[in-house]
Formats: sequence, structure tokens, C-alpha cells
Amino acid sequence: MKKIIVFYFLAAFLVACGSYAEQRNTASASTPTVDGKSIYKDYCIACHGLYGVMGGSGAFDLTKSTLPLEERVKVITDGRKLMTPFKGLLSEEKIRAVAEYVETLKQ
Ligand code: HEC
Repeated sequence: MKKIIVFYFLAAFLVACGSYAEQRNTASASTPTVDGKSIYKDYCIACHGLYGVMGGSGAFDLTKSTLPLEERVKVITDGRKLMTPFKGLLSEEKIRAVAEYVETLKQ
């Protein structure tokens, strides 16, 4: 009887590890080396808020932005009015990633 219980725990443990490994794999597959979302959280929510609608420092409501990707990259790189230029802070690759992430905030 004891053996069966031990086996049960062992099996549960292995299943738990398996799904954990799976989660990690899918996460790394969908997230390239630069993650626009985490960059956004680090650099943009202070003014734009988590969902892009905060409007701190007169920030633009990003859910209503109609700027095409290239223009967004430009605004983020060079700044605009009260928005800080990010060219010294973020690499071109990261700016592009966060510009792509902003697209997902649109409603
Ligand atoms: C210091 C506050 C501040 C921070 C930090 C900030 N922004 Fe802004 N952002 C603004 C303001 C203010 C505007 C509006 C500028 C204007 O009216 O010309 C703006 C405008 C924008 C626009 C233009 C929207 C449009 O359709 O015209 C985009 C895109 C944008 N921000 C993205 C970002 C991203 C991405 C980050 C993080 C990398 C970021 N912002 C960080 C304040 C900020």
C-alpha cells in the first residue's frame, strides 16, 4: 500500500515538472530576446499607464493612437513635446519591440 502512495506522489511530481517545463518552452518561443511588454512596463507606464490610457504629463492615449509603426518608432526614438526621447536609453531593436507592443494596446 505504501508503495502505491509513493508512486502516486512521484507521478504527480513528474507531471507537475513536465507542465512547468512546457510553460517555459512556450514562453520562450513566443518571446524573442527583447520583450516589448516588459520594456513598456519599465519605461512607459509612468506616463502612459499599464493600459496606455493614463495620460500622465499629457501623454497620448495609446489605445487611440493611429500612428503607423514607423511613426511610433520615431516618436519613441526622438520623443515629442513632454515625451522623453528613448534613443539613448533603448536600442533600436528594443524601441521597435515596444512600438510593436503599443499596437496591442489599441482598442
Ligand atoms: C515622460 C512621460 C512619457 C513617457 C515616459 C513616455 N511617453 Fe509616450 N507620450 C508622452 C506624451 C506627453 C505624448 C504626447 C506628445 C504630443 O502631444 O506630441 C506621448 C506620445 C506617445 C506616442 C504617440 C501617439 C500618437 O498617436 O501620436 C507614442 C506611440 C508613445 N508616446 C509611446 C511611448 C512608449 C512606447 C513609451 C515607452 C518607451 C513612452 N511613450 C514613454 C509622454 C510619455
